[in-house]
Amino acid sequence: MKIKNMLTHAALTLGLIAAGGCATFQLIRPGAVWPDDRGKYVQAHGGGILKLGNTYYWFGEDRAQDNDRNYRYAACYSSTDLAHWTFRHQVVKLSDPEQLGRNWVLERPKVFYNTKTKKFVMYAHIDGKGGYKFASVAVFTCDAVDGDYQYLKSFRPLGKESRDIGQFVDDDGAAYLIFESRPSKGFYIAKLSDDCLDVEKEVCFIGSPLEGGAVVHYQGLYYAIGSALTGWRPNPNKYATAKSLEGPWSEFKDIAPPESNTYGSQSTMMLKVAGTKATTVIFMGDIWKPNTQWDSRYLWMPLEISDGKLWLPEPKDWTLDIKTGEAVIQK
Ligand code: GAL
Repeated sequence: MKIKNMLTHAALTLGLIAAGGCATFQLIRPGAVWPDDRGKYVQAHGGGILKLGNTYYWFGEDRAQDNDRNYRYAACYSSTDLAHWTFRHQVVKLSDPEQLGRNWVLERPKVFYNTKTKKFVMYAHIDGKGGYKFASVAVFTCDAVDGDYQYLKSFRPLGKESRDIGQFVDDDGAAYLIFESRPSKGFYIAKLSDDCLDVEKEVCFIGSPLEGGAVVHYQGLYYAIGSALTGWRPNPNKYATAKSLEGPWSEFKDIAPPESNTYGSQSTMMLKVAGTKATTVIFMGDIWKPNTQWDSRYLWMPLEISDGKLWLPEPKDWTLDIKTGEAVIQK
């Protein structure tokens, strides 16, 4: 093997890709084990991202195998390139605050930063197992992004049953909670109150029974993504567009070949990365493994998105230049 080929081979083994002969980027590998700085699997399932300065914080369900089954956990990781993740803290370790029983769940944690109160506010779906009848959101607060989040309360947003939740912060900083509501057969986009501790008002109800709801604002259009209601089993996720969050929203269309079932994943968030040369919108999905949940994987891919069309390309390893915003999918 020639020296150059040997080096390329070594770099690929490490997951490093040189771009333009200078910068080296870590590969983002959909479906592969994603190790943190300690070499442990990132435990941030059904997650969300908060950006502060140049740092991204990834929060999600911590389903590590050695967790104590009497508690439910959320973990926080940080990164400045969205590829290398540093474990910060198990920010939630909570034992059944609403007496929901042994198999209660705390899912899809999302953290907002409130600039007025300088508090970090976490929302999560809290429920009892058998039938998900509690159907509420849990709210936590913390003074530090990666501190111990304190449980504040649970409630039903707008008085409605709420299961999967999503978060959306618009370009003007306004914070929204997205939540699926079974009796209404659709999902809501609702504005949070000034202190983020309540859901203040309904902005839009989208009458399509979709969960794993995610919204992004890109080139003057809002794009909403959701998954069908098939539990852990993947299904063809869909998207719609609107000029305003209030709607009207277009029809829902497939984001990927329907037979791929979103390449085995389920939506959790869309993340917009605006760089000096390009803006990349990342689809963040979960590849659930219900029987070995600690080993559930992530499917992050740059979306093809423009002029009201959105498409999730076939998953392949890719790199992101966080400065320029450019994503390069490997051949
Ligand atoms: C999915 C949901 C997940 C989890 C799962 C449990 O529909 O998106 O967050 O609640 O069901 O069956």
